[in-house]
Amino acid sequence: MEILDFKNSIEYSKLEKASKVLKKGGLVLFPTETVYGIGANGLDIHAVKKIFLAKGRKQDNPLILHVSDFDMISVIACNITEIEKKLMHAFWPGPFTIILNKTSIVPNIVTGGLDTVAVRMPSNKIAQALIKYSEVPVAAPSANISGKPSGTLLDDILDELQDKVDYIIDGGPCDVGLESTVVRVINNVPHILRPGKITPEQIKQVAGDVVIDKHILHKFNSEKPVLSPGMKYRHYAPDSKCVLVYSVDNNKMVDKINELSKNYKNSLVICCNENSKYYSYAKTLTYGIKSNLESISKNIFSSLRKVDNYNPDIVFIEGVESSGLGLAIMNRLIRACEYNYIEI
Ligand code: TXA
Ligand code: MG
Repeated sequence: MEILDFKNSIEYSKLEKASKVLKKGGLVLFPTETVYGIGANGLDIHAVKKIFLAKGRKQDNPLILHVSDFDMISVIACNITEIEKKLMHAFWPGPFTIILNKTSIVPNIVTGGLDTVAVRMPSNKIAQALIKYSEVPVAAPSANISGKPSGTLLDDILDELQDKVDYIIDGGPCDVGLESTVVRVINNVPHILRPGKITPEQIKQVAGDVVIDKHILHKFNSEKPVLSPGMKYRHYAPDSKCVLVYSVDNNKMVDKINELSKNYKNSLVICCNENSKYYSYAKTLTYGIKSNLESISKNIFSSLRKVDNYNPDIVFIEGVESSGLGLAIMNRLIRACEYNYIEI
């Protein structure tokens, strides 16, 4: 395993070497603008299998194929509609994934047996060049053991993944910090299956309409089918018990968390920088600035990964308003708390 340090500048000749290893069936841990990914040749069944093994991921949870240009899309997807084209051109390259009809060249292991394939064109320069040099669509899930928070800083994931990959590329902290928005167009209407940096409002502006899947903020009911297999799995959760608390009224939220944490000897609050000073009964871990959702989105997974170091009896996490980027933050937090959610 070799680590390439591209935090300050990219050495393209070294990156080309890593791409060749990827093309030939190896695994490369690489940065994108959303989160780090574990990449493999998306057309090579054996290589893709290694991803599932490295992550301990369920076989029915499909992977996203990453492309570096529009020409690669016609290899893996077909029957693309006008609305789908419009969305791709509006949000690519960037933190946006679209579910398309797959061609027969895409192995079933990538799509979990579905006849659709998830496709994304990342904007991160390292990711783009890695895909371009490898000359194949790159299958890449978030870099984390399944169930753990996605990796947004190399230091957070090095221990759990370094023995499982051939190359590691350090690109510094990821810009967005949350995985891409996943959309499937049904009867010409985009349905958001996973919220991200590209917001419902932005999608509506391009397509004229948008539907937010109800599982985004609500528990999956095992009797009903889900549009995206990833929705039904435990996600982002620390080992400690976490409770999400939210009120539009900031004072009420702080009072509630103080009232609840009084009952525990060793509680931890994950909160915005501004509120940290108000928690008298608990330790605090800050996740960003309340008025700047981008800062919270960037830090949230790294904060969740620190929780267990405190060995707390319980963790209270401050919620945010669930609109715009806040919808994506709340989607991850609700799942990290396994739907333990108090709204007042
Ligand atoms: O930002 C991202 O999307 C990152 C970076 C590395 O690009 N990747 C990522 O991949 O988050 P992963 O595997 O952790 O999440 C992919 C999500 C899962 O929830 C999966 O169920 C869903 O996309 N998905 C993949 N293919 C699908 C399909 N054909 N239909 C519905 N959902 C699909
Ligand atoms: Mg993931």
